Amino acid sequence: MLKKIPVDRLRLGMYVQELCGDWMSHPFWRKSFLLRSEGDLARILDAGIHAVYIDTAKGLDDVEGRDAVEVREEVERDLVAALASAPVEPLKVSLAEEMERAKKVHSQADKVVRGMMQDVRLGKAISLDDVEPVVEAITGSVLRNSGALIGLIGIKNKDDYTFLHSVSVCTLLVAFGRSLGLEAAMVRELGVGGLVHDLGKMKVPDSVLNKPGRLTDEEFALIRRHPGDGHAILLETGGVGPIPLDITRHHHERLDGKGYPDQLAGDAISKAARMAAIVDVYDAITADRCYHKGMPATEALRKMWEWSQFHFDHVLLQAFMRCVGIYPVGSLVRLESGRLGVVVEQCDESLLTPKVRVFFSTRSGAHIRPEIVDLSRPFGGGGADKIVSTETPERWKVDPQRFLAMA
Ligand SMILES: [Fe+2]
Repeated sequence: MLKKIPVDRLRLGMYVQELCGDWMSHPFWRKSFLLRSEGDLARILDAGIHAVYIDTAKGLDDVEGRDAVEVREEVERDLVAALASAPVEPLKVSLAEEMERAKKVHSQADKVVRGMMQDVRLGKAISLDDVEPVVEAITGSVLRNSGALIGLIGIKNKDDYTFLHSVSVCTLLVAFGRSLGLEAAMVRELGVGGLVHDLGKMKVPDSVLNKPGRLTDEEFALIRRHPGDGHAILLETGGVGPIPLDITRHHHERLDGKGYPDQLAGDAISKAARMAAIVDVYDAITADRCYHKGMPATEALRKMWEWSQFHFDHVLLQAFMRCVGIYPVGSLVRLESGRLGVVVEQCDESLLTPKVRVFFSTRSGAHIRPEIVDLSRPFGGGGADKIVSTETPERWKVDPQRFLAMA
């Protein structure tokens, strides 16, 4: 049985199934493990972990632990209540129409990030000439139909993670900034910050960056250098505004002061850096990595909601969820009718009832004729169906991307 316990009840001999926190803040544990040493226990406390899930079938029990299913239901209820009525901006063009343009913008952005990162790797001076045009192009696409790029960043390729992650963070920050009603200049700076925020990672050896197993303390220390190194590179480059500089240096800070590199806490962390921290973790935990399978977007949002008290600005996290939706475009969902579909559009009235293009029957295990189901319109929009779960494409051996932007 899985139980959630506060860390002060954690004892040697317990089997730690999951640490409640993103694994970038404590990447020495990327998998479940039996807690055997006092050293590991001390590391967990040091990393600012406040709670863990233990598996009582594989290790010692704790009578005061809370059933994981119960906790999950509570988080979900809380989340749904917080987001039940969220206005959604009307779309300017259809997803199918925007998708082709978005693909070009995405690959152009990817190329620019790769170029900059390779220059850092080679110790060359970087050029930021192409950054602003790419951010402009991303902003344009987001304004027309943010679902196209948000759907595209759902495609995660673990080999290209570092580059694609920068493009994703840029896109999500632009969409997030827009949804908060920030000024165009601020949104552009957020986008630039997203594109350059991880440049310092190119100073970390590949063998550490892509190490599948547990990192040593020394290796983790190397990773923790990247915000400071990135900041120094940008300062040296010159011409970078204060917002991208701040995002680069502070996207791993945490509200409780347990982040890095400056251990800023609470209000000492700027709004831009708080936004970047949310977007950065969201993209990281939904991506496949060499050491971790990415989780579905909805699951990631649920987890972040659970950790938000210590890690993130709760109000901003709520706003981010309103922006991408509880079921972001590109999510694979299973409906009560047994059909699988991909989310293609958020609904104006409720984030719980998006438009879904169904294409597979879990009952027959076969593809069905694709059709749009508008879950907000039970009578006339595709039947009284509802989402019962999010699914991984691997489980059903399907490719939701194929059905995302059909004309
Ligand atoms: Fe980072």
